[in-house]
Amino acid sequence: MVDIDNMSSKTVLEEQYKNTNNLKLRKSLHEKYSVNQVGFQKWMFEQYPFRAGIRILELGSGRGELWNYYFEDEVLQGYEMEITLSDFSEGMVEHLRHIFSGRRISVRKIDILDIPFERDTFDLIIANSMLYHVKDIDTALSEVHRVLKKDGLFYCSTFGMNGMAQYLYRALDELGIPCHHESNISFTLQNGMQILKRQFGRVERYDYEDALEIDNIEDYLEYIYSMASMKELDRKYYDILFDYFNAKKSGGYLHVPKEYGMFAVGK
Ligand SMILES: C[S@@+](CC[C@H](N)C(=O)[O-])C[C@H]1O[C@@H](n2cnc3c(N)ncnc32)[C@H](O)[C@@H]1O
Repeated sequence: MVDIDNMSSKTVLEEQYKNTNNLKLRKSLHEKYSVNQVGFQKWMFEQYPFRAGIRILELGSGRGELWNYYFEDEVLQGYEMEITLSDFSEGMVEHLRHIFSGRRISVRKIDILDIPFERDTFDLIIANSMLYHVKDIDTALSEVHRVLKKDGLFYCSTFGMNGMAQYLYRALDELGIPCHHESNISFTLQNGMQILKRQFGRVERYDYEDALEIDNIEDYLEYIYSMASMKELDRKYYDILFDYFNAKKSGGYLHVPKEYGMFAVGK
């Protein structure tokens, strides 16, 4: 039985993020096959309200890729902002320390459920593709609310319920591959606004238009098998999945829908 409802189980998360390899593999599928060439990270980065001297905290930074755009931009670097990147995974923190050592970014090990800063500390807080992993979302958001300044802004990205995951679940269902999945994911583009409004006064949603056009089905299958939630997906299904997705190609490509976006949130 494949268990794909367990997005916030600590064991599954630690397994998935204990090193950066799985995350890297999944990112490369997006880079190689996305229709929208801007890239989700760059699209988000360009919308953040950076200004001189502000204090920024990123939670669940992962491999810290967002900050490549910072180092490409000399004007931004001249702003002398105080930037703290963080993650609750030791593996990610080690990676972040390694790539940002000697650069003007601090790295801390932080669990969003217990943020070790004073009230009203940050002008900008970012939490991308991580809130759906958090078991107690209200505690996480109250922590963000606490350390965000009164006029500060919180940006958080997530996926929607009409994207890649649902496409895969439907395929597994159609093929009769046993798969228990939860339609009730904790934080999505569909339910995010309502959840955020429980604690924040202003919430706006922005969608990033995109899809995958995949010519090499093997890349897609490696992606699927790299997902922690698919770790019980038996290799014996590989050929069945390959034939299924290969037959779905049109004009040489498998079209996989994506639904990603972010919320811009103020107190
Ligand atoms: C899908 S990755 C996203 C990484 C990065 N933000 C990005 O958008 O590419 C989710 C990250 O959130 C981290 N994470 C999950 N739960 C967390 C928590 N409670 N506190 C802090 N980080 C957490 C994981 O270790 C992982 O690095």
